[in-house]
Amino acid sequence: MRSIITGTGIGMAKNVVKNDALARIMDTSDEWIRTRSGIEERRYVDPGEGSSHLGMLAAEEALRSAGRTKDDIDAIIFATMTPDHFFPGNGPVVQAKMGFAQTTATFDIRQQCSGFLYGLDLADSLLRSGKYKRILLIGADVHSPFMPWHNNWDAVLGRSDRETTPEEYEENTRSRDRTVLFGDGAGAVIVETSENGDGRGLLASKLFTNGSNIEALFVPGVGFRHRPYVTAGQLERSEYIPVMEGRAVFKEAVSKMPEAVREVCASAGIEPSQLDLLLIHQANMRIVEAVAKQLDLPPEKVPHNIERYGNTTAGTLPILFHECLQDGRIKPGMLICFTALGSGLHWGAALYRV
Ligand code: ACO
Repeated sequence: MRSIITGTGIGMAKNVVKNDALARIMDTSDEWIRTRSGIEERRYVDPGEGSSHLGMLAAEEALRSAGRTKDDIDAIIFATMTPDHFFPGNGPVVQAKMGFAQTTATFDIRQQCSGFLYGLDLADSLLRSGKYKRILLIGADVHSPFMPWHNNWDAVLGRSDRETTPEEYEENTRSRDRTVLFGDGAGAVIVETSENGDGRGLLASKLFTNGSNIEALFVPGVGFRHRPYVTAGQLERSEYIPVMEGRAVFKEAVSKMPEAVREVCASAGIEPSQLDLLLIHQANMRIVEAVAKQLDLPPEKVPHNIERYGNTTAGTLPILFHECLQDGRIKPGMLICFTALGSGLHWGAALYRV
Protein backbone atom coordinates (compact mmCIF):
# COMPACT_ATOMS: atom_id res chain seq x y z
CA MET A 1 0.00 0.00 0.00
CA ARG A 2 1.35 3.43 -0.97
CA SER A 3 0.20 7.00 -0.45
CA ILE A 4 -0.48 8.78 -3.72
CA ILE A 5 -1.29 12.39 -4.52
CA THR A 6 -4.51 12.42 -6.52
CA GLY A 7 -5.20 16.16 -6.75
CA THR A 8 -3.39 19.48 -6.41
CA GLY A 9 -4.39 23.13 -6.18
CA ILE A 10 -2.98 26.54 -5.35
CA GLY A 11 -4.28 29.71 -3.75
CA MET A 12 -2.31 32.83 -4.62
CA ALA A 13 -2.76 36.30 -3.21
CA LYS A 14 -4.14 38.89 -5.64
CA ASN A 15 -1.69 41.77 -5.21
CA VAL A 16 1.42 41.35 -7.36
CA VAL A 17 4.30 43.51 -6.14
CA LYS A 18 7.50 43.97 -8.14
CA ASN A 19 10.88 44.68 -6.59
CA ASP A 20 10.76 48.32 -7.73
CA ALA A 21 7.69 48.90 -5.57
CA LEU A 22 9.67 47.85 -2.48
CA ALA A 23 12.53 50.12 -3.53
CA ARG A 24 10.08 53.03 -3.17
CA ILE A 25 9.82 52.53 0.60
CA MET A 26 13.27 51.30 1.67
CA ASP A 27 16.90 51.25 0.65
CA THR A 28 16.89 48.30 -1.74
CA SER A 29 16.82 47.78 -5.49
CA ASP A 30 15.49 45.43 -8.12
CA GLU A 31 19.09 44.62 -8.98
CA TRP A 32 20.03 43.62 -5.38
CA ILE A 33 16.94 41.47 -4.89
CA ARG A 34 17.29 39.70 -8.26
CA THR A 35 20.99 38.97 -7.96
CA ARG A 36 20.91 37.91 -4.29
CA SER A 37 17.68 35.90 -4.35
CA GLY A 38 16.33 35.50 -7.90
CA ILE A 39 13.03 37.11 -6.87
CA GLU A 40 11.33 39.49 -9.34
CA GLU A 41 7.91 39.80 -7.73
CA ARG A 42 5.79 38.37 -4.95
CA ARG A 43 2.12 38.45 -3.99
CA TYR A 44 0.43 39.84 -0.92
CA VAL A 45 -3.05 39.25 0.44
CA ASP A 46 -5.39 42.05 1.44
CA PRO A 47 -5.82 42.59 5.18
CA GLY A 48 -8.38 40.13 6.52
CA GLU A 49 -7.32 37.39 4.09
CA GLY A 50 -5.25 35.02 6.18
CA SER A 51 -3.42 31.82 5.34
CA SER A 52 -6.71 29.93 5.85
CA HIS A 53 -8.23 31.93 2.97
CA LEU A 54 -5.43 31.03 0.55
CA GLY A 55 -5.42 27.47 1.90
CA MET A 56 -9.13 27.11 1.15
CA LEU A 57 -8.67 28.33 -2.43
CA ALA A 58 -5.95 25.72 -2.87
CA ALA A 59 -8.03 23.02 -1.17
CA GLU A 60 -11.06 23.65 -3.39
CA GLU A 61 -8.94 23.27 -6.52
CA ALA A 62 -7.20 20.17 -5.14
CA LEU A 63 -10.56 18.52 -4.39
CA ARG A 64 -11.80 19.32 -7.91
CA SER A 65 -8.67 17.98 -9.55
CA ALA A 66 -8.85 14.76 -7.49
CA GLY A 67 -12.52 14.37 -8.42
CA ARG A 68 -13.36 14.25 -4.72
CA THR A 69 -15.87 16.02 -2.52
CA LYS A 70 -15.52 17.15 1.06
CA ASP A 71 -17.36 14.03 2.18
CA ASP A 72 -14.56 11.87 0.80
CA ILE A 73 -11.95 13.46 3.10
CA ASP A 74 -11.28 11.87 6.51
CA ALA A 75 -8.71 14.32 7.83
CA ILE A 76 -7.13 17.70 7.15
CA ILE A 77 -3.49 18.57 7.85
CA PHE A 78 -2.76 22.30 7.76
CA ALA A 79 0.91 23.29 7.74
CA THR A 80 1.56 26.96 8.44
CA MET A 81 3.72 29.15 10.67
CA THR A 82 1.28 32.03 10.11
CA PRO A 83 -2.17 30.81 11.23
CA ASP A 84 -5.12 33.22 11.35
CA HIS A 85 -5.13 33.03 15.16
CA PHE A 86 -2.62 32.22 17.87
CA PHE A 87 -5.00 29.38 18.61
CA PRO A 88 -6.83 27.43 17.42
CA GLY A 89 -4.94 26.60 14.25
CA ASN A 90 -6.26 26.84 10.71
CA GLY A 91 -7.49 23.23 10.62
CA PRO A 92 -10.82 23.89 12.35
CA VAL A 93 -11.21 27.21 10.48
CA VAL A 94 -11.02 25.43 7.13
CA GLN A 95 -13.09 22.50 8.37
CA ALA A 96 -16.02 24.74 9.29
CA LYS A 97 -15.78 27.36 6.51
CA MET A 98 -15.53 24.75 3.77
CA GLY A 99 -18.29 22.68 5.36
CA PHE A 100 -16.45 19.46 6.13
CA ALA A 101 -18.19 16.94 8.37
CA GLN A 102 -17.47 17.11 12.10
CA THR A 103 -15.95 13.63 11.80
CA THR A 104 -13.15 15.14 9.67
CA ALA A 105 -10.24 15.34 12.10
CA THR A 106 -7.88 18.29 11.72
CA PHE A 107 -4.16 18.44 12.47
CA ASP A 108 -2.28 21.74 12.70
CA ILE A 109 1.46 21.57 12.18
CA ARG A 110 4.18 24.18 11.72
CA GLN A 111 7.69 23.21 10.67
CA GLN A 112 7.88 26.45 8.64
CA CYS A 113 9.57 25.93 5.27
CA SER A 114 9.56 22.16 5.82
CA GLY A 115 5.84 22.14 6.66
CA PHE A 116 4.80 20.40 3.46
CA LEU A 117 7.44 17.66 3.83
CA TYR A 118 6.41 17.00 7.43
CA GLY A 119 2.74 17.08 6.43
CA LEU A 120 3.32 14.57 3.64
CA ASP A 121 5.14 12.23 6.01
CA LEU A 122 2.35 12.57 8.58
CA ALA A 123 -0.34 11.99 5.95
CA ASP A 124 1.50 8.89 4.74
CA SER A 125 1.76 7.51 8.29
CA LEU A 126 -1.91 8.14 9.02
CA LEU A 127 -2.99 6.58 5.73
CA ARG A 128 -0.76 3.54 5.96
CA SER A 129 -1.86 2.92 9.56
CA GLY A 130 -5.29 2.32 8.06
CA LYS A 131 -6.86 5.03 10.21
CA TYR A 132 -7.80 7.30 7.31
CA LYS A 133 -8.34 6.81 3.60
CA ARG A 134 -8.07 10.32 2.18
CA ILE A 135 -6.33 13.37 3.57
CA LEU A 136 -6.34 17.00 2.52
CA LEU A 137 -2.87 18.46 3.10
CA ILE A 138 -2.49 22.23 2.89
CA GLY A 139 0.73 24.25 3.06
CA ALA A 140 0.06 27.99 3.29
CA ASP A 141 1.68 31.11 4.65
CA VAL A 142 1.04 34.83 4.64
CA HIS A 143 4.12 36.89 5.47
CA SER A 144 2.69 40.32 4.73
CA PRO A 145 1.56 40.76 8.37
CA PHE A 146 5.27 40.59 9.35
CA MET A 147 6.06 43.59 7.19
CA PRO A 148 6.55 46.80 9.26
CA TRP A 149 5.31 49.08 6.50
CA HIS A 150 2.39 50.52 8.47
CA ASN A 151 1.58 53.69 6.47
CA ASN A 152 3.48 52.58 3.36
CA TRP A 153 1.27 49.72 2.25
CA ASP A 154 -0.61 51.91 -0.24
CA ALA A 155 2.68 52.91 -1.85
CA VAL A 156 3.81 49.26 -2.05
CA LEU A 157 0.52 48.30 -3.69
CA GLY A 158 0.66 51.26 -6.10
CA ARG A 159 -2.44 52.87 -4.63
CA SER A 160 -0.80 56.09 -3.47
CA ASP A 161 1.94 58.50 -4.55
CA ARG A 162 2.63 59.61 -1.00
CA GLU A 163 6.37 59.84 -0.33
CA THR A 164 7.81 57.66 2.42
CA THR A 165 9.09 59.83 5.27
CA PRO A 166 12.80 59.54 6.21
CA GLU A 167 11.82 57.84 9.51
CA GLU A 168 9.62 55.29 7.73
CA TYR A 169 12.34 54.69 5.12
CA GLU A 170 14.89 54.03 7.85
CA GLU A 171 12.58 51.68 9.73
CA ASN A 172 11.69 49.75 6.57
CA THR A 173 15.35 49.44 5.64
CA ARG A 174 16.19 47.79 8.99
CA SER A 175 14.38 44.58 8.01
CA ARG A 176 15.14 44.68 4.26
CA ASP A 177 17.27 41.53 4.36
CA ARG A 178 14.11 39.53 5.24
CA THR A 179 11.09 41.43 4.01
CA VAL A 180 12.10 41.39 0.34
CA LEU A 181 12.32 37.58 0.36
CA PHE A 182 8.80 36.57 1.37
CA GLY A 183 5.40 36.41 -0.29
CA ASP A 184 1.95 35.00 0.46
CA GLY A 185 0.74 31.75 -1.10
CA ALA A 186 -0.75 28.31 -0.61
CA GLY A 187 -0.74 24.89 -2.15
CA ALA A 188 -2.80 21.83 -1.34
CA VAL A 189 -2.82 18.15 -2.26
CA ILE A 190 -5.19 15.26 -1.73
CA VAL A 191 -3.33 12.19 -0.48
CA GLU A 192 -4.96 8.77 -0.72
CA THR A 193 -3.94 5.15 -0.38
CA SER A 194 -3.44 3.08 -3.49
CA GLU A 195 -3.53 -0.68 -3.45
CA ASN A 196 -2.70 -0.89 -7.17
CA GLY A 197 0.91 -1.88 -6.76
CA ASP A 198 1.72 0.09 -9.91
CA GLY A 199 4.80 1.62 -8.31
CA ARG A 200 3.25 5.06 -7.90
CA GLY A 201 3.29 7.01 -4.66
CA LEU A 202 5.52 8.09 -1.80
CA LEU A 203 8.53 5.78 -1.83
CA ALA A 204 10.53 7.18 1.06
CA SER A 205 10.74 10.17 3.35
CA LYS A 206 13.51 11.44 5.64
CA LEU A 207 12.93 14.18 8.18
CA PHE A 208 15.49 15.95 10.36
CA THR A 209 15.46 18.55 13.14
CA ASN A 210 18.25 20.44 14.87
CA GLY A 211 16.82 22.73 17.51
CA SER A 212 20.18 23.71 19.00
CA ASN A 213 20.13 27.17 17.42
CA ILE A 214 16.55 28.22 16.88
CA GLU A 215 17.77 31.83 16.99
CA ALA A 216 19.15 31.38 13.47
CA LEU A 217 15.62 32.01 12.23
CA PHE A 218 12.85 32.83 14.68
CA VAL A 219 10.40 35.44 15.93
CA PRO A 220 11.95 36.88 19.12
CA GLY A 221 8.89 38.55 20.66
CA VAL A 222 5.18 37.78 20.91
CA GLY A 223 5.03 34.34 22.50
CA PHE A 224 3.81 32.56 25.59
CA ARG A 225 7.05 32.80 27.53
CA HIS A 226 6.26 36.52 27.85
CA ARG A 227 3.64 37.87 30.26
CA PRO A 228 1.49 39.10 28.66
CA TYR A 229 2.43 37.29 25.50
CA VAL A 230 2.30 40.47 23.41
CA THR A 231 3.28 43.90 24.69
CA ALA A 232 3.51 47.39 23.25
CA GLY A 233 7.26 47.28 23.92
CA GLN A 234 7.70 44.17 21.77
CA LEU A 235 5.83 45.84 18.95
CA GLU A 236 7.84 49.08 19.28
CA ARG A 237 11.07 47.06 19.15
CA SER A 238 9.71 45.24 16.04
CA GLU A 239 10.07 41.89 17.79
CA TYR A 240 7.18 40.50 15.73
CA ILE A 241 9.45 40.47 12.66
CA PRO A 242 11.46 37.26 12.20
CA VAL A 243 15.18 37.52 12.90
CA MET A 244 17.40 35.61 10.51
CA GLU A 245 21.11 34.89 10.36
CA GLY A 246 20.93 34.89 6.57
CA ARG A 247 24.39 33.58 5.78
CA ALA A 248 24.26 30.84 8.44
CA VAL A 249 20.87 29.60 7.19
CA PHE A 250 22.15 29.78 3.61
CA LYS A 251 25.10 27.53 4.51
CA GLU A 252 22.84 25.03 6.29
CA ALA A 253 20.46 24.97 3.34
CA VAL A 254 23.13 24.23 0.73
CA SER A 255 24.66 21.40 2.78
CA LYS A 256 21.67 19.77 4.51
CA MET A 257 19.31 19.56 1.54
CA PRO A 258 21.75 17.68 -0.74
CA GLU A 259 22.54 15.33 2.18
CA ALA A 260 18.83 14.65 2.74
CA VAL A 261 18.27 14.01 -0.98
CA ARG A 262 21.19 11.57 -1.07
CA GLU A 263 19.89 9.78 2.03
CA VAL A 264 16.34 9.42 0.81
CA CYS A 265 17.56 8.18 -2.57
CA ALA A 266 19.91 5.69 -0.90
CA SER A 267 17.06 4.38 1.25
CA ALA A 268 15.19 3.54 -1.96
CA GLY A 269 18.29 2.11 -3.64
CA ILE A 270 18.64 4.81 -6.29
CA GLU A 271 21.12 7.56 -7.18
CA PRO A 272 20.15 11.26 -7.32
CA SER A 273 21.11 11.17 -11.01
CA GLN A 274 18.10 8.89 -11.58
CA LEU A 275 15.67 11.59 -10.45
CA ASP A 276 13.55 13.08 -13.22
CA LEU A 277 12.94 16.26 -11.21
CA LEU A 278 14.10 17.73 -7.91
CA LEU A 279 11.63 20.16 -6.32
CA ILE A 280 13.57 22.37 -3.90
CA HIS A 281 12.02 24.72 -1.35
CA GLN A 282 11.95 28.14 -2.99
CA ALA A 283 13.84 30.36 -0.51
CA ASN A 284 16.58 31.71 -2.73
CA MET A 285 17.51 30.97 -6.35
CA ARG A 286 21.18 30.79 -5.36
CA ILE A 287 20.32 28.03 -2.86
CA VAL A 288 18.37 26.17 -5.55
CA GLU A 289 21.34 26.41 -7.94
CA ALA A 290 23.87 25.37 -5.30
CA VAL A 291 21.83 22.31 -4.25
CA ALA A 292 21.38 21.28 -7.90
CA LYS A 293 25.11 21.70 -8.51
CA GLN A 294 26.08 19.57 -5.52
CA LEU A 295 23.81 16.81 -6.73
CA ASP A 296 25.08 17.23 -10.29
CA LEU A 297 21.58 17.80 -11.64
CA PRO A 298 21.12 19.93 -14.79
CA PRO A 299 18.89 23.05 -14.59
CA GLU A 300 16.10 21.38 -16.57
CA LYS A 301 15.68 18.86 -13.74
CA VAL A 302 15.35 21.56 -11.10
CA PRO A 303 12.28 23.73 -11.71
CA HIS A 304 11.75 27.00 -9.89
CA ASN A 305 9.15 29.71 -9.53
CA ILE A 306 10.76 31.86 -6.83
CA GLU A 307 11.03 34.69 -9.39
CA ARG A 308 7.22 35.06 -9.33
CA TYR A 309 6.27 34.31 -5.72
CA GLY A 310 9.30 34.74 -3.44
CA ASN A 311 9.42 32.43 -0.45
CA THR A 312 5.91 31.32 0.54
CA THR A 313 7.30 28.98 3.27
CA ALA A 314 4.93 25.96 3.61
CA GLY A 315 3.42 26.90 0.24
CA THR A 316 6.47 26.61 -2.00
CA LEU A 317 6.63 22.85 -2.64
CA PRO A 318 2.93 22.17 -3.28
CA ILE A 319 2.71 25.30 -5.48
CA LEU A 320 5.73 24.22 -7.54
CA PHE A 321 4.43 20.64 -7.77
CA HIS A 322 1.05 21.88 -8.97
CA GLU A 323 2.56 24.21 -11.59
CA CYS A 324 4.87 21.50 -12.94
CA LEU A 325 1.93 19.11 -13.26
CA GLN A 326 -0.14 21.79 -15.00
CA ASP A 327 2.52 22.73 -17.55
CA GLY A 328 3.51 19.11 -18.25
CA ARG A 329 6.98 19.19 -16.73
CA ILE A 330 5.79 16.43 -14.40
CA LYS A 331 4.41 13.42 -16.23
CA PRO A 332 3.05 10.09 -15.03
CA GLY A 333 5.77 7.63 -14.13
CA MET A 334 8.39 10.27 -13.30
CA LEU A 335 10.55 9.93 -10.21
CA ILE A 336 10.67 13.18 -8.29
CA CYS A 337 12.14 14.33 -5.01
CA PHE A 338 10.98 17.11 -2.72
CA THR A 339 13.43 18.79 -0.37
CA ALA A 340 13.23 21.72 2.04
CA LEU A 341 15.02 23.40 4.94
CA GLY A 342 13.76 26.12 7.20
CA SER A 343 13.33 27.53 10.67
CA GLY A 344 13.71 25.03 13.49
CA LEU A 345 15.94 24.01 11.83
CA HIS A 346 13.76 21.40 10.16
CA TRP A 347 14.71 19.80 6.87
CA GLY A 348 14.25 16.65 4.88
CA ALA A 349 13.47 15.03 1.57
CA ALA A 350 10.74 12.83 0.11
CA LEU A 351 10.90 10.55 -2.91
CA TYR A 352 7.76 10.21 -4.98
CA ARG A 353 6.83 8.25 -8.12
CA VAL A 354 4.14 10.17 -10.05
N1 ACO B 1 18.60 45.45 -0.39
C1 ACO B 1 19.84 45.98 -0.49
N2 ACO B 1 20.86 45.60 0.30
C2 ACO B 1 20.62 44.65 1.22
C3 ACO B 1 19.35 44.07 1.38
C4 ACO B 1 18.31 44.49 0.52
N3 ACO B 1 17.08 43.99 0.58
N4 ACO B 1 19.42 43.16 2.38
C5 ACO B 1 20.67 43.16 2.84
N5 ACO B 1 21.41 44.07 2.15
C6 ACO B 1 22.80 44.41 2.29
C7 ACO B 1 23.35 44.05 3.66
O1 ACO B 1 23.08 45.07 4.58
C8 ACO B 1 24.82 43.88 3.38
O2 ACO B 1 25.40 45.16 3.33
P1 ACO B 1 26.88 45.41 3.93
O3 ACO B 1 27.78 44.54 3.12
O4 ACO B 1 27.09 46.88 3.71
O5 ACO B 1 26.81 45.00 5.36
C9 ACO B 1 24.86 43.34 1.96
O6 ACO B 1 23.56 43.60 1.40
C10 ACO B 1 25.11 41.85 1.89
O7 ACO B 1 24.32 41.18 2.86
P2 ACO B 1 24.45 39.64 3.06
O8 ACO B 1 23.62 39.22 4.23
O9 ACO B 1 25.86 39.22 3.04
O10 ACO B 1 23.77 39.08 1.71
P3 ACO B 1 23.70 37.64 1.24
O11 ACO B 1 24.36 37.52 -0.07
O12 ACO B 1 24.04 36.63 2.30
O13 ACO B 1 22.11 37.47 0.95
C11 ACO B 1 20.10 36.55 1.96
C12 ACO B 1 21.20 37.63 2.04
C13 ACO B 1 19.35 36.75 0.65
C14 ACO B 1 19.18 36.73 3.14
C15 ACO B 1 20.76 35.14 1.98
O14 ACO B 1 21.69 35.06 3.02
C16 ACO B 1 19.75 34.01 2.14
O15 ACO B 1 18.99 33.71 1.25
N6 ACO B 1 19.78 33.29 3.28
C17 ACO B 1 18.92 32.10 3.49
C18 ACO B 1 17.47 32.41 3.60
C19 ACO B 1 16.72 31.12 3.83
O16 ACO B 1 16.93 30.12 3.17
N7 ACO B 1 15.84 31.08 4.81
C20 ACO B 1 15.23 29.80 5.15
C21 ACO B 1 13.87 29.69 4.75
S1 ACO B 1 12.81 30.85 5.56
C22 ACO B 1 11.88 30.00 6.74
O17 ACO B 1 12.14 28.91 7.17
C23 ACO B 1 10.71 30.75 7.30
